[in-house]
Amino acid sequence: MNISGSVVFVTGASRGLGLAFVKEAVARGAKKVYAGVRNPAAFDVPGVIAVKLDVTDEASVRAAAQHCQDTTLLVNNAGIASVMQGPLDQNMIELSQHLMDTNYYGVIRVSQAFAPILAANGGGGIINVLSDVTWLSIPLLAAYAATKSAAWSFTNALRLQVRGDNTQVVGLHVGFIDTDLTQGFDVPKSTPKAVVDSAYETLEAGGFEALADEGSRYIKSTLSSADAVYFNPPMPG
Ligand SMILES: NC(=O)c1ccc[n+]([C@@H]2O[C@H](COP(=O)([O-])OP(=O)(O)OC[C@H]3O[C@@H](n4cnc5c(N)ncnc54)[C@H](OP(=O)(O)O)[C@@H]3O)[C@@H](O)[C@H]2O)c1
Repeated sequence: MNISGSVVFVTGASRGLGLAFVKEAVARGAKKVYAGVRNPAAFDVPGVIAVKLDVTDEASVRAAAQHCQDTTLLVNNAGIASVMQGPLDQNMIELSQHLMDTNYYGVIRVSQAFAPILAANGGGGIINVLSDVTWLSIPLLAAYAATKSAAWSFTNALRLQVRGDNTQVVGLHVGFIDTDLTQGFDVPKSTPKAVVDSAYETLEAGGFEALADEGSRYIKSTLSSADAVYFNPPMPG
């Protein structure tokens, strides 16, 4: 599908990658762009419609979907992260539940609310923002990585279920991006625009998976190897 002429709804659009998805949709000629944000009063991007949305709140998701019945492209971007000591941390279950509510159940809530809208509009697209940690967990990110692996699994099942509705589902995998989420991490980072370009170009080419940086492409390339990179990742943690 093309971004030009589409009606785009982006979750977590207030800043970071979500804001880049919104701005690039406008630049690529989207007919209408909805920014799903927790605080619409603080959002001001010309030509973009702010819609109140908290992905952890079922009623909020239902109300946003009700308001945006012309959506043809959904970007499930809202997400949170947290570093921890590792999988044996006493906080592992509590932290996982907290992160899952946004990164996994949030994706489910929003997809379930919007997929029927896309279908009713003749089909469309869903981009799910995942991560390279989908395939490569490290102790520091154990809880966060599990949420992205779960969301990847959901993405794959969703793709099969909605293809009969003419809806295309793209999973986006990427390592560090230069946003608030990675403040304090002194590592190479992709720009939000480069990541968004990769996702939109994959969608427009009819693809299913955007590997937005060299690291993600490398990790994916090793998965079928006996020496897959997740056994011995070249990073701390
Ligand atoms: N940055 C990275 O290195 C990186 C790498 C791979 C994948 N990702 C993924 O990319 C996505 C965007 O991350 P980012 O780097 O742009 O992070 P960010 O700068 O921290 O922005 C997160 C966005 O999600 C929103 N959000 C959080 N919880 C929400 C909720 N319950 N309901 C609605 N919106 C909510 C935030 O809204 P508020 O402004 O209201 O807090 C904000 O707009 C996430 O899914 C993240 O996991 C990031």
